[in-house]
Amino acid sequence: MGAFAHSQVYKDPSQPLEARVNDLLSRMTLDEKISIIHANSKFSTPAIPRLGIPTRWMSDGPHGVREDISTDSWDPAGHTNDFSTYMPVNICLASSWDPDLAYAYGSVIGQEALARGKDMMLGPGVCIMRTPLNGRNYEYLGEDPFLAGQMAVGYIRGAQAQGISSCVKHYAGNDQETQRGSIDVEMDERTLREIYLPAFKAAVQQGHVWAVMGAYNRFRGTYCCENDYLLNKVLKGDWGFQGLVVSDWSGSHTTSGSVNGGLDLEMGTDGPYHLDHMADPYRDGILSGKYTMASLDDKVRRNLRMMIATHMLDTKPVGSLNTSAHQETARKVAEEGIVLLKNKGGLLPLSAPNLSSIAVIGEDGFTKFAYGGESAGIKAFYEVTGLEGILKRAGGSVNVTYSPGYHIPTWRPGPRRLGGVRGYNQGPPPVPPAEAKALVDQAVKAAKSADVAIVFAGLNHLRNMDTEGSDRRDMKLPYGQDLLIQRVVEANPRTIVVLISGGAVEMDSWINRVPSVLQAWYPGMEGGNAMAEALFGDINPSGKLPCTFPHKLDDSPAHFTQAYPGTHGVEYYEEGLLVGYRWFDSTHIQPLFPFGFGLSYTTFAYSAPNFSVPRWPGPAQVSFTVTNTGTRSGTDVAQVYIQPGAEKLFRPLKELKGFARVSLKAGESKRLAIELPATAFAYYDPSRHGWVAEAAQYKILIGDSSRDIKFSQDWVAPVEYFVPEGPIASPTPSQIALAGNRSGQ
Ligand code: GLC
Repeated sequence: MGAFAHSQVYKDPSQPLEARVNDLLSRMTLDEKISIIHANSKFSTPAIPRLGIPTRWMSDGPHGVREDISTDSWDPAGHTNDFSTYMPVNICLASSWDPDLAYAYGSVIGQEALARGKDMMLGPGVCIMRTPLNGRNYEYLGEDPFLAGQMAVGYIRGAQAQGISSCVKHYAGNDQETQRGSIDVEMDERTLREIYLPAFKAAVQQGHVWAVMGAYNRFRGTYCCENDYLLNKVLKGDWGFQGLVVSDWSGSHTTSGSVNGGLDLEMGTDGPYHLDHMADPYRDGILSGKYTMASLDDKVRRNLRMMIATHMLDTKPVGSLNTSAHQETARKVAEEGIVLLKNKGGLLPLSAPNLSSIAVIGEDGFTKFAYGGESAGIKAFYEVTGLEGILKRAGGSVNVTYSPGYHIPTWRPGPRRLGGVRGYNQGPPPVPPAEAKALVDQAVKAAKSADVAIVFAGLNHLRNMDTEGSDRRDMKLPYGQDLLIQRVVEANPRTIVVLISGGAVEMDSWINRVPSVLQAWYPGMEGGNAMAEALFGDINPSGKLPCTFPHKLDDSPAHFTQAYPGTHGVEYYEEGLLVGYRWFDSTHIQPLFPFGFGLSYTTFAYSAPNFSVPRWPGPAQVSFTVTNTGTRSGTDVAQVYIQPGAEKLFRPLKELKGFARVSLKAGESKRLAIELPATAFAYYDPSRHGWVAEAAQYKILIGDSSRDIKFSQDWVAPVEYFVPEGPIASPTPSQIALAGNRSGQ
């Protein structure tokens, strides 16, 4: 038993997790149990010194450790030691299609959380990009549940391996910010199980995440934080989730709803903490017999698992902040996440020795984005802007000029209101027309006299742009940027557009005239360096879109069906399973740039695949060779889609079920082997509460975009495969501890 008396199992790190949890639980009084299932400040639960339980600290967000917030208001605490590494946003990470990189990303989050004294980090977010307008699309991992799930698993495993808890969010159906605190989201069961839940399920069953955050919205009429179906039946029942469900901040609404609906930790409820729904009212309900002690013990057990698994009762690992390794990971994510959308005539990569002048245009190339976006904002140690990156890379030999071209208005955030939606004081009026024209004229003049023009265009984290608490009003570039781009490329055909945004923008008014376009997302504090590396060819872009870029908003399913943003507070997901490329494939609407698309400075060729299923329903193996047929090294992302034949239930035309990055020198070939479990062929059958792969014909499609299919292989499943929805053999504590190994692949 070592140094601990036999009776103090909970203090002994050599003891199994569950034994420590049960021992500790058995020692707790009713008040102590109640104390750790609700907040005692904005981002903490109280210590229990008698038992050696310290204060538990939580922090946002998905892209780094947020600045410290006041204990009892949303104002910054005003500390000077709460800077952190500002990582590229999660949609940029998703564009890398690199779960191992997601593991490295999560490792940075975990190490910096430890250094900042945080036990739980509130991320990653895996809500599905159902509409291009969702203000928080940039915080999430795109439109496909399989890609989002695999990237989230890597992220969570990396973060939790450092000794903190991740918290996957926002569960479930929080796919817009409009009316997020009240909207009732409705969808059919297959849409729920096949589109909106799989990334959460992967986070639980493959990532072994210790916490899930209930969303603000209602689902089928009941708030997600009090939703017995989502929390008790699906998450804890079907999937066997052993961790805790924490409310989004002020997402708990009633004691009975929270207690009976499956909430385990109430955070953010306004008003004295002892009056929180799961504080005195719950304790009184226990004493009166309205609620059982067993219900409380289950909640407490889930909190204690997270606490003990994150070494809160032991010596916590020491973290680190803003190390060169963290900076390198931030840069690598930006490098791998940048997507080359167009490069007609090979204008890119630029060659500095052959340039005498570059006109850098656009305030998005001059703006620092780290601090914006509400809960996802970071007080960054530094942030390299696009302009700074170009100056550093080429300024020594090339004359680099800067023209804002347009003006981003400044708004002051107002007081945060209930339901988590921050009010905004109306900002100053948009720039007067005369001034706007002068900015464009100045930029055009600069472009005309330069060898090349680089226009940074896009959005920002102001209201109705890419930010929490509001959605975009449309897909258009703001502040007259379309006209600016048209006039700049007219003045100088050698124009490159670099897009800074969390998702698709309309480009039709200039895309045919601009020879080169890069999608850089919000590329984090090393983003300017990464963008310069891509522009000058120090790196070969390898990013692939994790979301469809439509020509126009109405082509997008949630808008074509007019389901978004809902009416009278209810939104039925009319498009059902047909989200993203599933919609564009099935409706044959041409996207501007398809899901999975991204160019390179080299070219790749694929061999015909070999497909084998040694013993169905064992996994299928698809293998093929990828060759770099160009003149420089590069990385492609091979994608495997399954196209079902005629089946009993409707299915999308094809669905992503496997992918792999492959890096090749010029002329080099590599053989890839991608494994497809039987469930890759299955759909969810609500009538059987399980997953069905019919004895039917399937096509296995290999390509490097959802629209660039190189080969198709037919295969017939000999017999139906059915697996009931349910817990996988729930991981043992040692498996969970080992979950800190490599990413989910
Ligand atoms: C917010 C967000 C959530 C965040 C939480 C704490 O309203 O929805 O993502 O983690 O509150 O700031």
